[in-house]
Amino acid sequence: MTSIVRNQWYVAAYGSEVGRELFSRTICGESILFWRTESGEVTAMSDRCVHRRFPLSEKPSHLVGDTVVCGYHGFTYGSDGVCVAVPGQTRIPRTARLKSYPVVEQDSFVWVFIGDPDRAASTRIPRAPWLDQEGWTTVSGMEPLAARASLLVDNLMDLSHETYLHGGYIGTPEVAETPITTEVDDEAGIVYVSRHMADAACPPFYSKSTGIEGRITRWQDIEFTPPCLYKLHSRIAPVGVLPNDDGSDPDAFHVEVVYAITPETENSTHDFWAVARDFALDDEEVSDFLRENNRTVVLQDVVALNVLEQVIAGEADGYQELSINIDTGGLAARRLIAKLAESADATAVPAAR
Ligand code: FES
Ligand SMILES: [Fe+2]
Repeated sequence: MTSIVRNQWYVAAYGSEVGRELFSRTICGESILFWRTESGEVTAMSDRCVHRRFPLSEKPSHLVGDTVVCGYHGFTYGSDGVCVAVPGQTRIPRTARLKSYPVVEQDSFVWVFIGDPDRAASTRIPRAPWLDQEGWTTVSGMEPLAARASLLVDNLMDLSHETYLHGGYIGTPEVAETPITTEVDDEAGIVYVSRHMADAACPPFYSKSTGIEGRITRWQDIEFTPPCLYKLHSRIAPVGVLPNDDGSDPDAFHVEVVYAITPETENSTHDFWAVARDFALDDEEVSDFLRENNRTVVLQDVVALNVLEQVIAGEADGYQELSINIDTGGLAARRLIAKLAESADATAVPAAR
């Protein structure tokens, strides 16, 4: 049985990765070719030529205007994936078309719809506006993970691991010590997990980037929209400093940590990460520090999750996990993902006549 939820939007790339070079990435087990038309639109189509399945992303395949020419025998496709020329004959077989994918560029990401394209328009794409918004500066990256996506969801939903796996970077004792509250909005399909630390040590990730010396009030508010988009609204302030009654919060530092969790295959994942901040906007040193530091933290998770994937692959059936309070967010996420999988498998409601 597949663990990948179909009929959903997934982040396939950053917009900056897709240009006038042919770009390929496997999303949910499907090898997809991306390129920009001359007017700048991103296109997404199968990366397998219909003739003898040569990957269109492989040289000498190439773009000519708004067409892609297969590097093996020259089948040529338009931006909609339909074949417009074949060698040696003028008749183009009717079935000569690449599968094309609904694609939307939003919040610096390229989103692609995996499943029945007719369901794309009615399926919501969650937002992460800070990644592409005035007043915020973002650093970002993507690390390949040799582990199933659900392990990364578990990891991100329970930040108590910061204390142990990321000590000296983003973890301090208070993260693991402070209880969480978990809420699920079943209608909207969102899991919220909050941990508010009134008086905590400031980890280097925040002391070096904000310049705060001494202890802090640290809020972590997670918002996860399964299956793909995870947001950690992080608020850092000198200890005791709270937002004003009207909601304004001028004396705090805000960081939006965004992850897009995109299955590559059943057992591997694209781990997109971005860190947006509302302070030190033009400070390259802060950007370099946060980029380097967050990448290190992500790689600490990657190492641990790659080990877990191997453990799971090698274990006998019937292993029973034990869950405690810190796992409520992760368990809620699993439940919502199972629900999405159920409705994705349900036959689409036939259109009214
Ligand atoms: S494999 Fe592409 S033209 Fe033959
Ligand atoms: Fe982590």
